[in-house]
Amino acid sequence: MWVTTGTSLFGILLQLFLHTSGISGVSWEEWWTYDGISGPAFWGLINPEWSLCNKGRRQSPVNLEPNKLLFDPNLRQLHIDKHRVSGSISNTGHSVMFTVDNSTRHHINVTGGPLSYKYQFQEIHVHYGQNDDWGSEHSINGYAFPAEIQVFGFNAQLYSNFSEALHRAQGIVAISLLLQLGDLSNPELRILTDQLDKIRHGGQEVEVKRLSVRGLLPETDYYMTYDGSTTMPACHETVTWIILNKPIYITKQQLHGLRRLMQGDGKHPKAPLGNNFRPPQPLHLRPVRTNIDFNVKQGGKYCPSMYREVYYRANSWKQH
Ligand SMILES: *[C@@H]1O[C@H](CO)[C@@H](O)[C@H](O)[C@H]1NC(C)=O
Ligand SMILES: *[C@@H]1O[C@H](CO)[C@@H](O)[C@H](O)[C@H]1NC(C)=O
Ligand SMILES: *[C@@H]1O[C@H](CO)[C@@H](O)[C@H](O)[C@H]1NC(C)=O
Repeated sequence: MWVTTGTSLFGILLQLFLHTSGISGVSWEEWWTYDGISGPAFWGLINPEWSLCNKGRRQSPVNLEPNKLLFDPNLRQLHIDKHRVSGSISNTGHSVMFTVDNSTRHHINVTGGPLSYKYQFQEIHVHYGQNDDWGSEHSINGYAFPAEIQVFGFNAQLYSNFSEALHRAQGIVAISLLLQLGDLSNPELRILTDQLDKIRHGGQEVEVKRLSVRGLLPETDYYMTYDGSTTMPACHETVTWIILNKPIYITKQQLHGLRRLMQGDGKHPKAPLGNNFRPPQPLHLRPVRTNIDFNVKQGGKYCPSMYREVYYRANSWKQH
């Protein structure tokens, strides 16, 4: 067979397409998008190292269904250090990304919640829609938000850096903040969106000083958590996802600033950066756990849809 090891027929066809369409300067194996023939449905076929994107059964994002959540009394409060860090914000051509300054001596630690290890904050990704009807990667009961911010850290007890941890067991934590349209922005979010004019095109990067990651988070102790993957190639299944139970707010003007960003450079701006979200992936029987005790919240009455939660409590009670 002429389709040799490590290269799919699809990959070869894509390579031909890229060649004939004059797309150059990128390796086809690195070339992926959020639509068309290099979109999410094809990520796993473009590059053999990304096969989990198609074959994986613990993929992200997912649609979260409140009536299927499993209350877990062992889940603790999530802790994120409060101090401010500097770094840079960039337009990667796939996303808006904040990366912490790698010379920072005071790392932001992320601990508690469902985590068994200490994680170290590394970067933030922004996913958003070109209109208000979609944009977030995670959805709740089928409802998508206009944007989602994902705060990533790596397991600093087991691994020496983010890139190593990406493909290692228990490597990554991702805290997801769902963004809702509002009149008043989260103040830390403004520190990021104030820089958007300077990263209009793919590849642009600008310094950001004194960002409080903790300050981006909504005021809530409640969250949902499940084991999943990164939502971009290579879709490594190493991510503990924590989705906070309250949105933060973004204004129309800030969303407008995001929607003006382009994927390409000044000469070839290509398409807008927005709509950079992967569609929800099947749960395949993975539990989504929560620290929201619906029974307490509903005056001690068992909520019929929380039948599984009742079981879970009974089981943990028996062990004591
Ligand atoms: C920090 O990142 C820069 C640019 O990516 C790199 O040149 C430098 O070696 C890194 N420094 C450390 C301490 O890792
Ligand atoms: C974060 O963890 C590291 C490693 O254990 C520790 O040295 C540092 O002091 C912690 N940072 C804060 C702000 O507690
Ligand atoms: C990350 O750590 C691995 C293993 O220690 C090392 O080989 C690699 O060069 C590091 N990468 C970066 C970007 O520092």
